[in-house]
Amino acid sequence: MLKPEIEDGQASLADPAFRHDVLQGFALRPRAIPARWFYDRRGSELFEAITDLPEYYPTRTETAILRECCADVARIAGTGRAVVEFGSGSSTKTPILLHAVNPAAYVPIDISGDFLRESSADLSAAFPGLPVLPVEADFLKPIDLPGQVIDTPKLGFFPGSTIGNMIPHASVDLLRAMKMSLGEGAMLLIGMDRIKDQTTLEAAYDDAQGVTAAFNLNLFERINRELGATIPVDAFRHRAIWNDDRARIEMHLEATRDVTFMIEGRPFDMAAGETIHTENSHKFGPRDARILLRAGGWTPVGEWTDPDGRFAVILAEAQPARLAP
Ligand code: AVI
Repeated sequence: MLKPEIEDGQASLADPAFRHDVLQGFALRPRAIPARWFYDRRGSELFEAITDLPEYYPTRTETAILRECCADVARIAGTGRAVVEFGSGSSTKTPILLHAVNPAAYVPIDISGDFLRESSADLSAAFPGLPVLPVEADFLKPIDLPGQVIDTPKLGFFPGSTIGNMIPHASVDLLRAMKMSLGEGAMLLIGMDRIKDQTTLEAAYDDAQGVTAAFNLNLFERINRELGATIPVDAFRHRAIWNDDRARIEMHLEATRDVTFMIEGRPFDMAAGETIHTENSHKFGPRDARILLRAGGWTPVGEWTDPDGRFAVILAEAQPARLAP
């Protein structure tokens, strides 16, 4: 069996971007690793389990909103567009939208080819006759969509409040990249989680069964496995903290004792109480959400929430290029 090389300077079988982000992340102060690295196979399974947890309200709340609002979305956006889903994963929300808007084609975009192939096969089976055109790509950058949909107006779909996992300037860059990928006359249906009481927010990211803790700690398991590292995972605990100033839940991994470990032949240490920052999940007030969309080149034209205002689904149209307000 092939094994990653662990001595510094030698070739590694690990993803070079993962290796770079981990080595840099442990060297940074404060320490931080981008959340995108949570999603290996185990991490993706744990995230699916999170979406079913009683404390994790976003998935079921957004699904209920979509069931209510997609007929209105079809009325405003019209039918026959190509639906382009960013980071499609194994989404169960997609069929609700597809049934309502009767699309000309469905284009799921995901960086994980495995997930993309599985979910595309499921969608094709559920919607016979619908062209399903998967694109394996990093949607953070502008994407060339398949030739078959070049002349078809697009409806982008970005559910789950995944936009909240980016810091504000990165989310504006992403919205602009989406606008470029989708082209003139495009619309975007996006899910954005609302600011709410701290207890509800912290419970959603620190559930009683410990699934979110396992999801966070799996990052260290992945580093050990893929980078031949020796992080003592049992010496760390999951933390989920509401940062009110930045309107975000932060996830960290905190050392519960002094530890030393090796990653790719390099030594690292952390003292008891020190943390590494692993995820941000920003939450949005109603106006914050609309301002962010406008900053990214999109004009909100419709907005739906649940009765308690916990989550919002917003429909926006691409702003035509113009210099003056
Ligand atoms: C994928 N993303 C929108 C989730 C969130 O709520 O920020 C990831 C997550 N992290 C912990 N629980 C869920």
